[in-house]
Amino acid sequence: MDTVLVTGGAGFIGIHTVIALLEKKYRILIIDSLINSSKKSIERLISKNLLKKESINSQIIFINGDIRDVNFLRSVFKKASKSGHIIKYVLHFAGLKSISDSILFPDEYWEVNVIGTKRLLKVMKENNCHNFVFSSSATVYSLDEKSPLKENSSLSPNNQYGYTKLAVEKFLEGLVHDQERFWRIVCLRYFNPIGAHPSGDFGESPLNTPNNLFPYLCQVASKKRKKLYIFGQNWPTSDGTCIRDYIHIMDLAEGHIAAIDYIKSGAKEPFLIINLGTGLGTSVLELVKTFENVNNLRIDYEFIERREKDKAIVYADPNFAKRILNWEAKRNIFDMCKDGWNWQKKNPDGY
Ligand code: NAD
Ligand code: WQD
Repeated sequence: MDTVLVTGGAGFIGIHTVIALLEKKYRILIIDSLINSSKKSIERLISKNLLKKESINSQIIFINGDIRDVNFLRSVFKKASKSGHIIKYVLHFAGLKSISDSILFPDEYWEVNVIGTKRLLKVMKENNCHNFVFSSSATVYSLDEKSPLKENSSLSPNNQYGYTKLAVEKFLEGLVHDQERFWRIVCLRYFNPIGAHPSGDFGESPLNTPNNLFPYLCQVASKKRKKLYIFGQNWPTSDGTCIRDYIHIMDLAEGHIAAIDYIKSGAKEPFLIINLGTGLGTSVLELVKTFENVNNLRIDYEFIERREKDKAIVYADPNFAKRILNWEAKRNIFDMCKDGWNWQKKNPDGY
């Protein structure tokens, strides 16, 4: 049983990926500072024991700590090797992700997302662990680029958050360039992950008012918020609202398993950047209508002015992922709306 270190594993994407890792029988070490999540997600995962494993308590270990703390990171690697479970792969989700906060607090974003990642890589190297999967984002692409976005489409983030993601990608590329015989690195550029685990026991659990469309929509559906404000109705799209590439969180999670498999099978390319999206665009109104129809409810919404620096149409070209990782999204927008609402209904206040 190989051991995977999952940073930020208590968060939205982290916990769903941990579920996918469990299914593949990995031993999982989660580190998280819980700055944007709760330990309850992990406690629930252990108590629900979805796969009914006797070994669940030793298969998932959680350690509370900050990726910026080198001594903490060293202690994690040391503990793992002392117990005979050397960390073989690192899935690096830990980071700050609010675009608006990144503009208000750029230092913090660079400190966590860039310096924190560099410290993690340093400690990995000290421990002879060189297999790394990084959570990047479609936000690195230029606003002027036309969809479908390919991995070699031009890059130009329009916020500090995006710059931190691009800076890490470049740092990783340089690392592999200089020390190619060691590192095996996959950067995954996520499009818009939404939905929840089909059990309804795991999902997105924002601690503050959600910035993103889907969690906001779910909170309107559960009457936590009065109405959804749709940013603009005169975009150059068929119904006037923006189009995005929404991807089911479990498809995204499984994309990480595919990335580990790629590294495991020898990683022909030591450094790769890969889009994780469906290749399909859905407008805001289409998403709202689908959510209403699938879940048999009504969403109150109002159009307001466009959000600054928004883009009319963003969706991925998913072909590289298909070809290289042998992975493609299997779930559709109906599944995303059904599973997302199931989670929200069962857990109106999160974990
Ligand atoms: P999340 O906030 O739910 O998860 C991130 C986790 O990292 C949280 O549990 C948080 O407590 C932890 N964390 C933050 N700073 C930390 C630190 N200094 N040390 C240790 N732990 C720390 O976010 P998510 O949606 O699960 O995103 C995971 C990763 O994917 C992030 O790097 C994010 O930038 C990236 N990403 C997310 C999206 C998205 O739409 N959700 C899209 C593209 C990329
Ligand atoms: C989707 C659509 C809004 C909220 C961002 C990042 C991206 C990734 C995902 C991290 C847009 C509209 C939204 C609302 C609305 N995150 N909207 N009312 O902007 O595509 O992507 O989050 O890496 O990198 O850029 O996602 O969910 O914010 O917006 O009308 O209350 O919904 O205008 O068209 P976005 P989003």
